[in-house]
Amino acid sequence: MPWEDRRYCRCTVETVITVDDAAELAGKMLAEPLPRRWRHVRSVARRARWVAKELALSDDPVAAAWLHDIGYAPELVETGFHPLDGARYLRRLGVDGPVVGLVAYHSCAQIEADVRGLGGELASEFSPADASLAEALLYCDMTTGPDGDFMRPADRLVEIRGRYGPDHEVTRFVERAAPEILATAGRVEELLAAQPG
Ligand SMILES: [Fe+2]
Repeated sequence: MPWEDRRYCRCTVETVITVDDAAELAGKMLAEPLPRRWRHVRSVARRARWVAKELALSDDPVAAAWLHDIGYAPELVETGFHPLDGARYLRRLGVDGPVVGLVAYHSCAQIEADVRGLGGELASEFSPADASLAEALLYCDMTTGPDGDFMRPADRLVEIRGRYGPDHEVTRFVERAAPEILATAGRVEELLAAQPG
């Protein structure tokens, strides 16, 4: 691995990536080749920062929000399933801990992995992060449209189906995962609404 990539993982013991390093790494991989995806990612990260603060969560979902779509970067495409390609890349950089699990399993990725026949690989290589962190990240991703605009989760699912078309694996995934996505987003919304102030 080139030295300039190693610097994104500064802590050699806990191998935790900071939010700032996650943002820088994601920008390096996505901003130029995929500007629309980058707009989405920036908004997801902004929302994650707010949600993590409201719900008193760690920084992990914020770092993971920056990195969740990094597997779309053209130079990282391996299986074509971006949660797995992104998580593998982070592991190659030496990143470990909840952020990698959050990226690998983000937004019900285990269901999409099954649709793509990659469920076994995902499960054998990565462990899911704590559910409260994963649910917060799902909420942020599923309330942020492709251009970074706020969307209701149900509208987001319609948007995804429309963007990929009826026969695509992503559409099959969304149809299968919709109940879980909507229920999870609803739970986080309720938690947010219950916060004082
Ligand atoms: Fe996303």
